[in-house]
Amino acid sequence: MESKRAQWSSKLGFILAAAGSAVGLGNIWKFPGRAYEGGGGSFLLIYLLIVIFLGMPLMLTELSIGRASQTNIVGTFKKLGYPRHSWIGWFGVLGAFFITCYYSHVGGWVLRYVFSYAFEAPEIYQNSTGYFYNMLGYHADGTTSIPWTALFFAAVFLLLNAVIIIRGVEGGIEKFNRIGMPALFLLLLILLVRSVTLKGAGEGVRYLLSFDFGKVNINTFFSALGQAFYSLSIGMAILITYGSYLSKSEDIFKNTAVVCGMDTLVAIIAGFIIIPAVFATVGSGEVGKGGGFAFVSLAGVFQEMPGGSLFGVFFYLLLLFAALTSCISLIESVVAFLTEQFGWARKQTTLILCLIMFLIGSLYTCSQAAIPLKGIWFDGVHGITFPPLCDFMEYLTDRLMIPLCALGSCIFAGWIWKPEHVITEVEQNGSPFRLAKVYTVLIRFVAPAAILAILILSIVSGVTLS
Ligand code: PHE
Repeated sequence: MESKRAQWSSKLGFILAAAGSAVGLGNIWKFPGRAYEGGGGSFLLIYLLIVIFLGMPLMLTELSIGRASQTNIVGTFKKLGYPRHSWIGWFGVLGAFFITCYYSHVGGWVLRYVFSYAFEAPEIYQNSTGYFYNMLGYHADGTTSIPWTALFFAAVFLLLNAVIIIRGVEGGIEKFNRIGMPALFLLLLILLVRSVTLKGAGEGVRYLLSFDFGKVNINTFFSALGQAFYSLSIGMAILITYGSYLSKSEDIFKNTAVVCGMDTLVAIIAGFIIIPAVFATVGSGEVGKGGGFAFVSLAGVFQEMPGGSLFGVFFYLLLLFAALTSCISLIESVVAFLTEQFGWARKQTTLILCLIMFLIGSLYTCSQAAIPLKGIWFDGVHGITFPPLCDFMEYLTDRLMIPLCALGSCIFAGWIWKPEHVITEVEQNGSPFRLAKVYTVLIRFVAPAAILAILILSIVSGVTLS
């Protein structure tokens, strides 16, 4: 089986795929809002430090574990001689599975909005909240219905993923990323130029470049840390899986630096698109993050902007590429696990998996608005009020599974498998790993302590990690 194992056909192929996984909705709709909250430049600085000192060592670790074992996330621990630690992989696979359930549906909404801005922009401008809720089956007169539109587009989105994944690592995933990622960069540049040339955009640009440490508190650090992990796709089986397709002659350190750099650059550019545009049109108070911001509040920005609906199409296309390349990586890591561990066929596994993800995700889509599912599932069982299903899924994955898997990977690399093995793996291509000592300290002490702190704090105080 090993001799047939898939590999990236080139260095660029891997970089684009890994960057494709990292660059996602997180960069474009969460990062700018967080940067705004954290005082602009001060947040950027903290974020950069976290990416360099925590994100990079963790990404390097996951890629090394994957390449050393040349197998999927659960099999990896057995292959390296530590079957008892397979639980780390299970958290990764389950996390990837549950994230895909909702991520793919949001991808479907994004796809819908590409068409919405192309054909129905005036309707959105008239009532952006109503338009959004209508898509989700909640109507202005208070009635609800099954959100067929949202479900249909989610199904199409997942089907697109399936078609690409079935074609395999090189023929499907790598090929798509070769088109998708340059397209994403092009769209980013177009939107950046549009945004910073708007009248009044200068104030937003200045905000991002100024340091307001008065807005920095402990939550800012947790917010930056959670954002960095989520954005870099750390703690989620993906980098181990993608690393396992990496050839031994590749320089893991350089690849890590390039992927982290690209992901961070996209997040920062997204900040320079969104914040100046919001400042210039609807006013600084309107900067937000998440789905409500991306689907509802931004309508005001496009309405005010010359050529707004065209840029609306560009913006949702950008989100679409970002979501697709991330979603592919999520599904691929589950598919790799199922096909390798159980010997299942790639095509059937992918199709069935996508179908199950679609069905579970449908509960998420339906629970967004006032569909009866909300409430029945998570409100008030035995007097305990649970968050609605959508919040629950995000809580489970972003706040528990990602940090647990990331913590597991650190402890595994730092104390069980030992940093020497990571270092040997990094040096496989023949060039020395100059920062080996720094890496050892970071992975053994700094990273686990930081993740543990965030995990505990996020549980006890409700600090959001995503
Ligand atoms: N990194 C992706 C983003 O920024 C999300 C993601 C998280 C993708 C975890 C895969 C795994 O949106």
